[in-house]
Amino acid sequence: MANKTVTLPANTDGIADAAARLRNGQLVAFPTETVYGLGADARNGEAVAAIFEAKGRPRFNPLIIHVPDVAGVAQIADIPDDARPLLAFWPGPLTLVLPQRADANLSDLVTAGLDTVAVRIPAHPLAQSLLRAFDGPVAAPSANPSGTVSPTTAAHVLDGLDGKIAAILDGGPCDVGLESTIVGFLPKPTLLRKGGIPRAALEAALQQTLATPVAGDITAPGQLSSHYAPTVSLRLNARAPDGDAWLGFGPDKFDVPSRNLSPSEDLREAAANLFAHLRQLDQIAIDNGLSQIAVAKIPDFGLGEAINDRLRRAAAPRP
Ligand code: TXA
Ligand code: MG
Repeated sequence: MANKTVTLPANTDGIADAAARLRNGQLVAFPTETVYGLGADARNGEAVAAIFEAKGRPRFNPLIIHVPDVAGVAQIADIPDDARPLLAFWPGPLTLVLPQRADANLSDLVTAGLDTVAVRIPAHPLAQSLLRAFDGPVAAPSANPSGTVSPTTAAHVLDGLDGKIAAILDGGPCDVGLESTIVGFLPKPTLLRKGGIPRAALEAALQQTLATPVAGDITAPGQLSSHYAPTVSLRLNARAPDGDAWLGFGPDKFDVPSRNLSPSEDLREAAANLFAHLRQLDQIAIDNGLSQIAVAKIPDFGLGEAINDRLRRAAAPRP
């Protein structure tokens, strides 16, 4: 994407510039108290797709949404009564997985099509200023290429992502140096990822022990075993619908019930459309009495790898 990554200063101009870039759908790395995040507008599917592209992530796992305050959380998620004692840890290195509001307006890609959302209020003053200036939800995984160590300085971010992201807001080293602790309410409070806030502190606040995820929920960070999958079956790498509904990629060729991930074969557009189109086409197939969706071949490079990973999971036989 961007050819040159601009380093923005930790002042009013730098923050305004970073917020403007997020509004334009660009990727901006910014400091939080845990690690540097790679931020994008969480409502913009193509911007979120660009995060996966820049990180070279081979799969779409759901990302954490950053907002400046509890009012921001309430715009995208319902806060169950059970979760309220943990609000005392915000702002801070805690992420809660909560039921997503129907009017949250987040891209499907950012939540991997789930009806829950992971949300966090970072304490870092620059993160706070950026989120307030942007005035919307910011998706941000750690700002490093997939499979490498999380960055705690602007130099680390540039080591991995220079030239792949528009800008970085340089706030010096991060304090915690470890990702946020993730607690889900599923509905039992469950420790999904260990991190910056110790288990004991959370259990003391909740006055109960945190459950450990069981198979069928979430087995490890980034490893959701229950994924959104359509009701009808999928046939991958198809050349033609042959009586099925059609999920296209490239110019439209068939006059059948269909959706097109990207008529111009743009993988970023295809990634942004993936979950919504699968959902819509599932319903369209059912409405047309069809029991299968044929999916056009998607190139297996760049974002195509993650798209194919998700399609294979959706196509896998279900128990
Ligand atoms: O410290 C942090 O949390 C950093 C900084 C930048 O804030 N962010 C970070 O974000 O680590 P990310 O997007 O890499 O974390 C994603 C984690 C994954 O392990 C994923 O499984 C979990 O959050 N997650 C996100 N949404 C979820 C959901 N709806 N249900 C369960 N887990 C979810
Ligand atoms: Mg990471």
